[in-house]
Amino acid sequence: MIDTLRGQNLLTLDGVSREALIEVLDTAESFVEVNHRTIKKVPALKGRVVASLFFEESTRTRLSFETAAKRLSADVLSLAVASSSVKKGESLRDTIATIDALGIDAVVMRHQSSGAALQVSRYVPHVRVINAGDGLHQHPTQGLLDVFTVRQILSERAGTNGVESGASLFENLRVLIVGDVRHSRVARSDIAAYAALGCDVRVAAPGLLLPTDVENWPVKVVSDFDEALEWADVVGLLRLQRERGSGSFVPSLAEFTSTFGLTITRAKRLRPTTIVMHPGPMNRGVEIDSRVADLPCAVIERQVTNGVPIRMAVLYLSVAGSLGGGA
Ligand code: CP
Repeated sequence: MIDTLRGQNLLTLDGVSREALIEVLDTAESFVEVNHRTIKKVPALKGRVVASLFFEESTRTRLSFETAAKRLSADVLSLAVASSSVKKGESLRDTIATIDALGIDAVVMRHQSSGAALQVSRYVPHVRVINAGDGLHQHPTQGLLDVFTVRQILSERAGTNGVESGASLFENLRVLIVGDVRHSRVARSDIAAYAALGCDVRVAAPGLLLPTDVENWPVKVVSDFDEALEWADVVGLLRLQRERGSGSFVPSLAEFTSTFGLTITRAKRLRPTTIVMHPGPMNRGVEIDSRVADLPCAVIERQVTNGVPIRMAVLYLSVAGSLGGGA
């Protein structure tokens, strides 16, 4: 069990305790205000160097990590993988060793291989490694920003601030994760976080898009998606990952949408308070109707915004190792 992120790598949310999650959320809460300042910068990581290595495509994770590092005053080394020596065949081990030789404190890394971040953490044990998505395995900061967003909304409704209301808002919260669960690292991280915080988590997916070991996950599989929509406090939609072959797991996109897409008709089943989430990038018209994505209950842009304070918190706890300086 991981009880704090202070001074630690962040490779997975599996085994991260409720206390450690709350520590990250509370730290992120303290960074929200920084992001509203005219000068959005604190000296917390001044003089530290964060390398940003994205071997797989990204818009929001990469930009928000780099923004977060800069707002903490870290220097950021950003490797453009497509024009790097990786394209000449340089191995992951040699790439990391080369970047480490420049003098770095942390690596933020996305890779197509499950376990790549763990491997890198073994190559450079003196460097903090933050997993920004590895294959089908984990996307821990997405899980953190998702639970942070839910806590923020529930805190606002309760008229409390997120820090004081702590974890209790999550107790028995009804969370429905829908879609391509099998190929989703977001689902794995979200489920680990929601379950650790005490939520009742259910998943809805076509049979072939469920993981083969789903019975070992802390979730129930729902048989009636439409009924589950009426049950849920939070609906987390997942992107159909066509680049990972999801298309061959469903008869057609139209059939997937008609059975598990959040169409405008289905959205009418949601209660007025239900929060609709999507990690992005969305396949508008596939897992979510474009009009649903633009409804007030859909908090997709807020998730992106919250990526910055969450990633500031993760970098700060992991690299600086303790609160108290500069935030
Ligand atoms: N949610 C997410 O990981 O988006 P990007 O692929 O754009 O980083």
